[in-house]
Amino acid sequence: MTRRPAKDYLVFALDVPSVAAAAPLVERLAGAVGMFKIGLELFVREGPAVVALVRRHGGGRIFLDLKLHDIPATVRRAMTAVAALEVDFVTVHCGESPAMLQAAVEGAGGRVKVLGVTVLTSVASTDLSAAGLRPELAEDPGRLVLRRAAMAAEAGCDGIVCAGHELVMLKGHFGHRLLAVVPGIRPAGEVAGDDQRRVMSPAEAVAAGADYLVVGRPIRDAADPLQAAHRIVEEIAGVSDRDEMGI
Ligand code: C5P
Repeated sequence: MTRRPAKDYLVFALDVPSVAAAAPLVERLAGAVGMFKIGLELFVREGPAVVALVRRHGGGRIFLDLKLHDIPATVRRAMTAVAALEVDFVTVHCGESPAMLQAAVEGAGGRVKVLGVTVLTSVASTDLSAAGLRPELAEDPGRLVLRRAAMAAEAGCDGIVCAGHELVMLKGHFGHRLLAVVPGIRPAGEVAGDDQRRVMSPAEAVAAGADYLVVGRPIRDAADPLQAAHRIVEEIAGVSDRDEMGI
């Protein structure tokens, strides 16, 4: 594993409704996390102003999680608009067509890293089957993830978003060719009583090869978000240290 500061792995999902709600979290967590993720709720309400806020006060990198999914021409143009915002990562869904992914990469023009969302971590086999997927794919989401990750790699995406349980398989296939960004992270000892289905602890995910961990509610809803972020970073550091010692 390449040795990086443990906090660089941690992406905080800024899932709040407004700049006013985001500002205190950004200020409090600046320097404690490696990246801030701006999602749909916040971007739809506040637009580029929230990107400017995070750039000014966040002191870290920015991930614009728009999960684009449209005809190739629209995705290409939207990606060009995202590239102008000078953010670090942006997402596009992998479930539609290779042409849409290629258009995303072309529109980004190398100015923002494009991540393909393979299968959402909130999705379970029953959902895939209800959506009409063939049993062999619905019953084993990993196979669908692999197929979509291959589409993303072929189209020139920089990375993928996947669940922790798929990391070992994906790293085996793609190595460092694709960055692996993993949501559905729940700190050791915490139970996901929410919509996430395919969850993993920070230590397990980093040990399995995750390049970035996306964590939202366990930090946002903690009594002390800074302390919650520190605890996750400590958990990650434990894995990196163990690796360095060859354990
Ligand atoms: O609160 P929680 O830690 O579950 O937040 C996860 C974040 O990661 C949310 O912002 C969600 O939109 C995002 N995400 C996800 N699953 C994906 C891609 C992104 O949960 N496959």
